[in-house]
Amino acid sequence: MRKHDRQMTARAVAAAPWANVPRTSVLGGALLGGAVLGSIVLGAAPAWAAKIPRDAGYARVKIECTRCHRLDNIVQSEGFTAPDWRDFVVEMTDLERRPAVLEEIVGYLARNFPPDD
Ligand code: HEC
Repeated sequence: MRKHDRQMTARAVAAAPWANVPRTSVLGGALLGGAVLGSIVLGAAPAWAAKIPRDAGYARVKIECTRCHRLDNIVQSEGFTAPDWRDFVVEMTDLERRPAVLEEIVGYLARNFPPDD
């Protein structure tokens, strides 16, 4: 069942680029349904969307971070300091190869999503 969980996650992540899923396709609908399920469980309305500040760095975050998942991951995280955001983003992406982009994103995240406590 662990294996099954992982497969579900992989499928949800694979379906994430919504724009690429043909709206009329039955298969697309099924994939979309699977990916949306998790967010329905957490709360139906995309209230998180309002919690993503559209300030400096937002456009970059949107481009780089929605390649694999929606931005609600960021809203729902407990927040991090700049060094911790940097480590985390580097683990998850290949942005260490583009330091200017990495710093723009880390600046945005640390400013808007500092540690909760
Ligand atoms: C190469 C794919 C990929 C990219 C690009 C990516 N992520 Fe992720 N991220 C993942 C995966 C896989 C997970 C774990 C599964 C999930 O939650 O969808 C994840 C989870 C997260 C989480 C939740 C972590 C937790 O433990 O709650 C946050 C926050 C996050 N990503 C932020 C970002 C930010 C910020 C960016 C842009 C700099 C980004 N991600 C770009 C793949 C990626």
